[in-house]
Amino acid sequence: MIKDFNFYTPTRVVFGREAEGKIGQLVKDNGGKRVLLHYGGGSAERSGLLDVVRHQLEQAGIAWCELGGVVPNPLLSKVREGIELCRREQVDFILAVGGGSVIDSSKAIGYGVPYAGDVWDFWDGKGVPAACLPIGVVLTIPAAGSEMSSSCVITRDEGLLKRGVNSDLCRCRFAVMNPERTYTLPPYQTAAGATDIMMHTMERYFSKYEDMTLTDALSEALLRTVRDAALVVLEHPEDYRHRAQIMWASSLAHNDLTECGTEKDFATHKLEHELSALFGVTHGAGLAALWPSWARYVMDRHLSRFVQFAVNVMGVANDFAHPDETAERGIRAIESFYRQIGMPTNIHELLGREITDAEIDTLVDKCSRGGKLKIGAMEVLDAADMRAIYQMAR
Ligand code: NZQ
Ligand code: ZN
Repeated sequence: MIKDFNFYTPTRVVFGREAEGKIGQLVKDNGGKRVLLHYGGGSAERSGLLDVVRHQLEQAGIAWCELGGVVPNPLLSKVREGIELCRREQVDFILAVGGGSVIDSSKAIGYGVPYAGDVWDFWDGKGVPAACLPIGVVLTIPAAGSEMSSSCVITRDEGLLKRGVNSDLCRCRFAVMNPERTYTLPPYQTAAGATDIMMHTMERYFSKYEDMTLTDALSEALLRTVRDAALVVLEHPEDYRHRAQIMWASSLAHNDLTECGTEKDFATHKLEHELSALFGVTHGAGLAALWPSWARYVMDRHLSRFVQFAVNVMGVANDFAHPDETAERGIRAIESFYRQIGMPTNIHELLGREITDAEIDTLVDKCSRGGKLKIGAMEVLDAADMRAIYQMAR
């Protein structure tokens, strides 16, 4: 069966070595007159990118104010600071320079500025965004795919609640992507980014809708491309060709292209968000620590999908007489890929210590919202399933 779909991807992508020369014009074309320049903890300043962006705004005659200091797994407190600043300065456009964390912080500020209530209402289920300031992105890390996604993931400082909100209103007007800007990424972030990109594809590929062969083919090509390119750039960080493949894949993996005719599962993502909220770990690394356990937990009931993944993506020889063996070899193959790129394959490797029973209780309680919420689509998981997967992954 092919699932009906509604594909909307309004983000203009300006890609390549010369892309940054278009920033001023892009902001102007999108109506930006008073801009918030939003960025992270220092990498964009150190690389000189922020100066390039400031020069672009100056040349285009655009006024701006700045707010840096967004941390990975971005915090609500910074969002509140941004909302106040934007109101005070009458900002009409947000320019995010960074990765998923800066983009999501920008999206949340964009929701908050025109909203009379408390911005956390949107993550708390008490309100639905009705408007968002326009946002543009200068991407520095291919990973989260937020540059083209409808998603915005924020952590509330009190209680470390990490949650996502989806709406087309926050989709970026444009994304400027120069693969050269990713040369400075630490190997761990490169590897975690590649893992996240692959997971955005896998969380749609592992679906009970199996008839959309075009989407499958796109997904499989994307997965093989990112896997191979990650191995190359970890050896050769300034390899433009392979950095470019990864950067473009980051957007295609999460702009819903690989969901056409299938369905988002995202159980591993939901389980991971609790890990990165509680322990502050890198999102992609958290996914690598959990996915093999999720896969083994659900595999028996979806064997043909796991066999297809093993054969078409991981290059495993198909043992037709023993599909369960073929499927298991596919999972083992991705575990050995994770090890090769320096990613963990369980929570112990992720944290560098054993997780306690009490910590697992907390993860389950938060992920299931006190036992009330189920997650997943190919396989719907309740609190007992979540506990079993965390236990397998410990
Ligand atoms: O803060 P700075 O100094 O810039 O350093 C960052 C940060 O420490 C660094 N970095 C970024 N570009 C760099 C660089 N260092 C050197 N050179 C560069 N060119 O990398 C670190 C990680 O940055 P971050 O923005 O946190 O990475 P990522 O893009 O992986 O974003 C992660 C966040 O996005 C969320 C994750 O949960 C996490 O909070 N996600 C957002 C999604 C969405 N909105 O669609 C979907 C994802 O599934 C994910 O949940
Ligand atoms: Zn992700």
